[in-house]
Amino acid sequence: MDPDFDPSAYGSRIADVYDATVRDLPTAAAVQRLAELAGDGPVLEFGIGTGRLALPLLQRGLRVAGIEGSPDMVAQLRAKPGGEGVPVTVGDFARTRVEGRFTLVVLALNTVFALPSQEAQVRCFANAAAHLRDGGRFAVEAWTPDPGAFRDGRSVRLLSVAEDEVVLEAAELFPGEQLMRTTKVRMTPRGTRLLPANHRYAWPAELDLMARLAGMELEHRWADWSGAPFTDASRDHVTVYRRRA
Ligand SMILES: C[S@@+](CC[C@H](N)C(=O)[O-])C[C@H]1O[C@@H](n2cnc3c(N)ncnc32)[C@H](O)[C@@H]1O
Repeated sequence: MDPDFDPSAYGSRIADVYDATVRDLPTAAAVQRLAELAGDGPVLEFGIGTGRLALPLLQRGLRVAGIEGSPDMVAQLRAKPGGEGVPVTVGDFARTRVEGRFTLVVLALNTVFALPSQEAQVRCFANAAAHLRDGGRFAVEAWTPDPGAFRDGRSVRLLSVAEDEVVLEAAELFPGEQLMRTTKVRMTPRGTRLLPANHRYAWPAELDLMARLAGMELEHRWADWSGAPFTDASRDHVTVYRRRA
């Protein structure tokens, strides 16, 4: 149990600017890949957020539902065309159950690491499997830990530079517990915003073990949504697990 964990905390700090922070991501490639993995659907997204992936999947004719911890993120989703019609349950995706069985459960953009402990992540994998039909898939997108990028347990990275926006990330690493505390500093002409996020990180092999504990097998691991090969140099992975029949 993680009694202090609040699944709404991240979203309540970022909801109004979230879409601006993800506009350079390869969303079209992600949607294309997810649509291929889903077949005829339906799809369940853990941490559906503002609907960056869910709304384009819906536009492709797939049924999509979500579990989301932050009412502020859900409000952003609801304000978009089509957003009113997406069934979203507010809750913690490591525990919350929704009705139905899905061909695909999606957990994108490192959000598995938003869960505060190994125990919560193991529960999340079990929850994903419980929502899948036999043969259904669980797609997880996450970064690959890189402790070498830290000096004395700290790092500062320049994430993006544009005329009207600069984003930095300051991070602190606690390797004993596999925790990373980060704050993104987003500077625009309208001011500076601090966007904190905590991660309980894991290497791909640990995630694979969580999948096996939940009755799923590794099907694919790519370096990105386009299917580039995953190598020792890959800093991110897109991994697909399949629920055993
Ligand atoms: C990085 S955003 C990703 C949003 C969306 N999936 C996307 O790809 O744009 C992570 C989302 O997961 C939500 N979230 C984080 N931890 C959660 C939890 N334990 N249960 C439910 N939602 C959670 C956050 O509120 C946020 O909306």
